[in-house]
Amino acid sequence: MKRRMLVIGIGAGNPEYITVQAINALNRASVLFIPNKGDDKSDLHRLRRDICERFIEGSDYRLVDFDVPERSKAGAYSADVADWRAAVQSTYERLLSDEIGEDEIGAFLVWGDPSLYDGTMGILDAIRSSGKFDLEFDVIPGISSVSALAARHKVALNRIGEPLTITTGRQVSKRLPDTGGNVVVMLDTRDAFASVTEDMDIHWGAYVGTEDEILIAGRLSEVRDEISRRIAEARDEKGWVMDTYLLSRGEDGDID
Ligand SMILES: C[S@@+](CC[C@H](N)C(=O)[O-])C[C@H]1O[C@@H](n2cnc3c(N)ncnc32)[C@H](O)[C@@H]1O
Repeated sequence: MKRRMLVIGIGAGNPEYITVQAINALNRASVLFIPNKGDDKSDLHRLRRDICERFIEGSDYRLVDFDVPERSKAGAYSADVADWRAAVQSTYERLLSDEIGEDEIGAFLVWGDPSLYDGTMGILDAIRSSGKFDLEFDVIPGISSVSALAARHKVALNRIGEPLTITTGRQVSKRLPDTGGNVVVMLDTRDAFASVTEDMDIHWGAYVGTEDEILIAGRLSEVRDEISRRIAEARDEKGWVMDTYLLSRGEDGDID
């Protein structure tokens, strides 16, 4: 079965993060797939729908909601992730087979940028390799939460001539990467910054770019309790938090 897809980065929060290329891609798509990640995250579902309504001209398109399988946390991390990816792959295969035709173009609206902690391209590659579909897809980059965080704090990510490491809360809670440069932490469900012993600067942001945005910056030793408190409050209020932060060793970054 021949299928054509677009993987469109929609930016990480503010509808105005969407690029002209993404708007053009939205307007090329006949079927737009909108993920449901449970009641707690209905804000994100609504934002994707709002983007379609705001930026697509005319009404010659369909929005198709689909439920994203939940990842089990019962087993070993890598086994749970593999099971979850297989479940998402079969969901995508069902969408490709049942919801779009050969002469249509389908689109996934990916939060932020599709290259950063997002499995959409990998899963489409796996589907293509499986030979079940003659699948072609194009990718439109988006403004990631990392770019949005840096812009909102008006700070460069790297120090002069040094590397920048982007990693997860899971990794940082084990130990801070020893790559030497600054560190951006994403997907932190365990307040990993609280266990960092080196006294670094932190630029932290939750729900960056949205109307719920919270930004805090300072020496880790001075602001870590406040960040933990704001995370706990936000979790109580909304049920979920999406936050990203930059840990840096003082000096501002620059070009190299
Ligand atoms: C599955 S990853 C997706 C990242 C996305 N592809 C990107 O380009 O930003 C989800 C993580 O991205 C970060 N994130 C996404 N949107 C964010 C936002 N608006 N504010 C703060 N962090 C955000 C959080 O660390 C969250 O746990």
